[in-house]
Amino acid sequence: MTGSRETTRASDDQHRLVSGGPPEPMIEVVDLVKHYRAGHGVVRAVDGVSFRVARGETLGVVGESGCGKSTTAKLLVRLEEPTAGEIRLAGEEISRLRGRRLRALRRRIQLVFQDPDASLNPRLTAADALTEVLAVHRLADGAGGRARVGELLEMVGLPASAGGRYPHQMSGGQRQRVGIARALAVSPEVLVLDEPVSALDVSVRAEVINLLARLRDELALTYVFISHDLGMVRHLSDRIAVMYLGRLAELGDWRAVSDAPLHPYTRSLQEAVPAADPEAESRREAVPLRGEPPDPSAPPPGCRFHTRCPLAEQLCREESPALMELRPGQFVACHVAAREAARRGDA
Ligand SMILES: Nc1ncnc2c1ncn2[C@@H]1O[C@H](COP(=O)(O)OP(=O)(O)OP(=O)(O)O)[C@@H](O)[C@H]1O
Ligand code: SF4
Ligand SMILES: [Mg+2]
Repeated sequence: MTGSRETTRASDDQHRLVSGGPPEPMIEVVDLVKHYRAGHGVVRAVDGVSFRVARGETLGVVGESGCGKSTTAKLLVRLEEPTAGEIRLAGEEISRLRGRRLRALRRRIQLVFQDPDASLNPRLTAADALTEVLAVHRLADGAGGRARVGELLEMVGLPASAGGRYPHQMSGGQRQRVGIARALAVSPEVLVLDEPVSALDVSVRAEVINLLARLRDELALTYVFISHDLGMVRHLSDRIAVMYLGRLAELGDWRAVSDAPLHPYTRSLQEAVPAADPEAESRREAVPLRGEPPDPSAPPPGCRFHTRCPLAEQLCREESPALMELRPGQFVACHVAAREAARRGDA
């Protein structure tokens, strides 16, 4: 299993030597689709999403409830199998792996859940929960296991004494630290963080975000960081992907997406988030968001955002806009934004 990781590293090096170009992205998702059967209909939870995440990069994923963030997370870590599309991890197609190779994948990419209460076994102490992961993956046992558990607790900023505590004896922040330690136990390369601080008290969110930033730097991790809150992801992300009803609305550098978004939906998400830069704050034109997102089992034709978009016109109701690079590195799926960019000569 370690072999597969070493092989990948070696092939990265080879790629660099042969082509002289950059190595493959850590994650590459192409036209990812996940449809669920529900009653007589089909829920289009993820409906044609493509993105790349470079090694060591953090991609923030934002969007309202039900837009497909958790489904994307589950597909990435292969808790779910996609209906269509490809997922590559360091160049290796992982979307159809089974058996031994799927178990090997679990050591390379790990999911941290929103709710540590639901993901931790109430009958296991923190140390037992970590020992169990080490045993399942045959990584360490006995004295070696105990040493590794101590190391993991320290990594996430918990005292050694926390190892003896049950979930109900810990605070929400401490439980989430155990959740993070459990994900790190297998020494993964990628963490998919699904709203890792949303369930926590506001006062401890910043601590956990800082912990995640430190771990990423120390362990050279790649993150996919999911939140419904644009203000939350901008702290940690290099780039941000904005999802709407199973599709990407906008994707780009965190500063461009959070301070100078081009998609009307991103602009409305930005509404509640004060810009870091006061000048940008005064320039932005936030548009308040009306109503609820439509049902993903009956998405509107054309642009999926047209039922709520203040700029919607006839074309938007008929034709789905493609994701286009309207500024360098900033991809936007909007007819009006594309036309304005063309007029300005940007695209
Ligand atoms: N197993 C399932 N069966 C049927 N529908 C599902 C299933 N899982 C998710 N869905 C539906 O798919 C859509 C996307 O769900 P998902 O959990 O990915 O959204 P989300 O962006 O994570 O939302 P939230 O912010 O509330 O966590 C929703 O309409 C949801 O009801
Ligand atoms: S394509 Fe039309 S409806 Fe969709 S976001 Fe752009 S302006 Fe709004
Ligand atoms: Mg979710």
